Amino acid sequence: MADTIKIFETVDELALYFASFLEARIRETPDDTTFSWVLSGGTTPKLIFRAVALNCRESVDWNKIKVFWGDERCVGPQDEESNFRMARENLLELLPIPWYNIFRIHGENDPAEEAVKYSELFARQVNSYMGIPNADLVMLGLGEDGHTASVFPGGADLFSSHKLFDVSEHPLTKQKRITACGKVINNAKTIIILAPGENKAGMVARILDEQTGWEQLPAAWVRPEKGEKIWLLDRKSASKLKSNTNNEKPID
Ligand code: 6PG
Repeated sequence: MADTIKIFETVDELALYFASFLEARIRETPDDTTFSWVLSGGTTPKLIFRAVALNCRESVDWNKIKVFWGDERCVGPQDEESNFRMARENLLELLPIPWYNIFRIHGENDPAEEAVKYSELFARQVNSYMGIPNADLVMLGLGEDGHTASVFPGGADLFSSHKLFDVSEHPLTKQKRITACGKVINNAKTIIILAPGENKAGMVARILDEQTGWEQLPAAWVRPEKGEKIWLLDRKSASKLKSNTNNEKPID
């Protein structure tokens, strides 16, 4: 299935689109099943999470949601680096999602042990097909070096791994991370890559225009087996794109 690329005038419009997309997909979920949402980290999701909390609080049955993380820094849940803390402050504290449906990665634990434990939890909690968990929605960000989740350049083995989650290391800070592997990411029903901002324009063009070396970039390894992949860009991050493959018109 070809990538869908949506380009918004502003990040606010991108965030509103995400909120309406999420609301619609949750509503489509049969009443007797749950919707598994795998959150991304970093700073971009803050605005997205707030848009969801502000616009969808009353329009979604939040009892149907199970929340997971696509990656976590190996820090405690109160640490300012924690992706869980960012989501708690900008999303989870603002919505009535039952605490027992929020599955944080315990960054404070031994990384290798937690990666195994979280893989087992994820496999138990997420609906599977042929023994592979198919998350309903995986949110991903895009790093300026082409990383996604916490799969950094050189981490190709994480995308071909039989594991669901594994340990990685930030190339500059050497901070240990726990990250979803390709098996989780590429078996999702829907993958949304959030990549607004001028600082992402170069990398967005490198990947979407398949410029030299693009195949070596982790975000280029996001190739859903059967699901859909949607890029959410703004004018700034789309500014260096040459091709208009599957580009949809900027949302008015
Ligand atoms: C993390 C993220 C990471 C992030 C990108 C983009 O834990 O940092 O999962 O993959 O999505 O680095 O981050 P920004 O949104 O801050 O640009």
